[in-house]
Amino acid sequence: MRAVIQDRYGPAEVVRVDDVPDPVPADDEVLIRVRAGSLNGSDRENLVGSPFYARLGGLLRPRNPVPGSDVAGVVAAAGSAVTEYAVGDEVFGELAGYRGGLAEYVATPPRLLARKPPELSFLEAAAIPQAGCIALKSTRGIKAGDRVLVNGAGGAGGTLVIGLAKHLGAEVTAVDRADKADHLLRIGADDTIAFEDEDWADQRSRYDRVVDLVGRRSPFRVHRALRPGGVYLMVGGHARVLLAMFALGWSVRTEGKRVEVLAVPQSRDDLEAVTALVIGGAAVAAVDRVFPLEEAPAAFARLAAGDNSGKIVIEMP
Ligand SMILES: NC(=O)c1ccc[n+]([C@@H]2O[C@H](COP(=O)([O-])OP(=O)(O)OC[C@H]3O[C@@H](n4cnc5c(N)ncnc54)[C@H](OP(=O)(O)O)[C@@H]3O)[C@@H](O)[C@H]2O)c1
Repeated sequence: MRAVIQDRYGPAEVVRVDDVPDPVPADDEVLIRVRAGSLNGSDRENLVGSPFYARLGGLLRPRNPVPGSDVAGVVAAAGSAVTEYAVGDEVFGELAGYRGGLAEYVATPPRLLARKPPELSFLEAAAIPQAGCIALKSTRGIKAGDRVLVNGAGGAGGTLVIGLAKHLGAEVTAVDRADKADHLLRIGADDTIAFEDEDWADQRSRYDRVVDLVGRRSPFRVHRALRPGGVYLMVGGHARVLLAMFALGWSVRTEGKRVEVLAVPQSRDDLEAVTALVIGGAAVAAVDRVFPLEEAPAAFARLAAGDNSGKIVIEMP
């Protein structure tokens, strides 16, 4: 089969498309004929092998050379112990281990997969899993009228965070590169801040919820940007901030405010819940561009340069 191959960490140039043997599903796995996959910030981290958690799947080089966690496709075979899915079922989801998806076939345990709703195309479904679960968890508890700031809003995950926060009635400020401001306003942000020009944490504005997809500030600085009762959730970001949060027991609670790292475990229930919201019109997983599989190196170059506004989707032949 044809597959995207990344057998070492490095710039986008390490990515190529090549022939590899078809995977063979174990008794408890399904084989998916992948129709589409999408890229996330985690694929960007797994490309360069940084921060440190990106090397959990291989210290010196990726153990699985095929990148890609989010897929949508059709069950092509099912192991003898699989009872939930049968050949021909349309499924989508995030793969355990966050790799293996950017190939014509992938073998995976079915526990994280959901049935693809007929309302969604394979391309649309592939854009939801990781970003959708992050958005669902990071917007839980937002109330109508809350002031919400989304930092790093212009990449893969931000679109759905903004959409769900707006759906809950929040007033949303989105922070990213200046050239992504039009995109952020189009997808529903009320206001934008260009991170090259202004530091949101230094402004006088205060927020009920900060969702930080690219955490770089100390827990004490972001604490000051919260209103009383406010919550800061670090979804991703720099290793030194994660280490500081680890030293603080992952959470700081003072003056009625909370600063914490948000864990988003892979979950079929969350995927189904956020997909129902997408189908109901609460939010969209904005697609930046669709690349055919053979052009995956160009897709990774776009991702690595941060030129994408929303999700990059890869379509299989
Ligand atoms: N907590 C969990 O359990 C969990 C689970 C899954 C994933 N994650 C993490 O969640 C994060 C997901 O983010 P994503 O997929 O949305 O990432 P993404 O696609 O890389 O988007 C990040 C956005 O932030 C922008 N940005 C870069 N520097 C910035 C700055 N200083 N201030 C504001 N914005 C900045 C980027 O612009 P440029 O492109 O110009 O750099 C990009 O538009 C990843 O770190 C991933 O590892 C966490």
